[in-house]
Amino acid sequence: MSITPIGGRPQDELGRKITTASLREQKFRHEPISCLTAYDYASARLVDESGIDMVLVGDSLAQTMLGYENTLSITMDELLADMPYGSYQVDANEAIRNAARFVKEGGAEVVKIEGGEKRADLIRRIIDAEIPVAGHIGLTPQSVNVMGGYKVQGKNLSGIEQLMRDAVALDRAGVACLYLEGIPREVAAMITAEVSAPTIGIGAGPECDGQVLVFHDLVNLTFGPPAKFVRRYGDATALITHAVQAYRADVKSHQYPSDVESYHLPKETKAGLDTVLERKRAMRR
Ligand code: KIV
Repeated sequence: MSITPIGGRPQDELGRKITTASLREQKFRHEPISCLTAYDYASARLVDESGIDMVLVGDSLAQTMLGYENTLSITMDELLADMPYGSYQVDANEAIRNAARFVKEGGAEVVKIEGGEKRADLIRRIIDAEIPVAGHIGLTPQSVNVMGGYKVQGKNLSGIEQLMRDAVALDRAGVACLYLEGIPREVAAMITAEVSAPTIGIGAGPECDGQVLVFHDLVNLTFGPPAKFVRRYGDATALITHAVQAYRADVKSHQYPSDVESYHLPKETKAGLDTVLERKRAMRR
């Protein structure tokens, strides 16, 4: 489970706060919903102030920020606002307690749970506890070991049928929105037409009600070949590497820091210090 804080500052074009209700209105108006992940103050501020509708504090931070191989090893304490693998699969009461912790301690307005129809009852119970839930179906990274790798889901008829069942079950359970990850465009389009919850796609084609990308993919900070669906809109690797190399070169060549980047003594203190030093030198002679 991860957290989708829909709120805080995100506002629509008329300056109104984005809510789970306004997301449904956006679906109804066919107005695309933009969503990006962010995991710290600086990136969340930049994403928010760029006018993105929803910020997803995704458990993808396990890989993008902490360098783990997958999202399974991240814990509640490391995540702050993202409910990780193991925090909701074992016991429904514990799941509700953990979800409430994210609302209280992380300021989250929606929590996200991976998995389809088998999670519908749990999702209902969390919603009953007054916590909106985002669903997440298709290629669910927390199931990487069961899926046998990060594989596109719903590529055959039985897979499509399962995804449709998952989507409908979660829609009926009352999810605030439904993340569709790694599924064929045609299937995502069918789900989007079928469910009343807004669908947010990642590797699920353009017919979804909205799109989400991982911030580090968007700005090229992921150190590997991007997935097919990733479009890079900037090159933070080049920008940061250039800045770090230039800094290093300046340090090595005594170009940094300069006199204007240094603090100076007040004139009187400097004069006093010069006098003391001069006296010491004279005594040594
Ligand atoms: O953790 C995450 O970033 C996600 C999105 C990719 C949907 O779950």
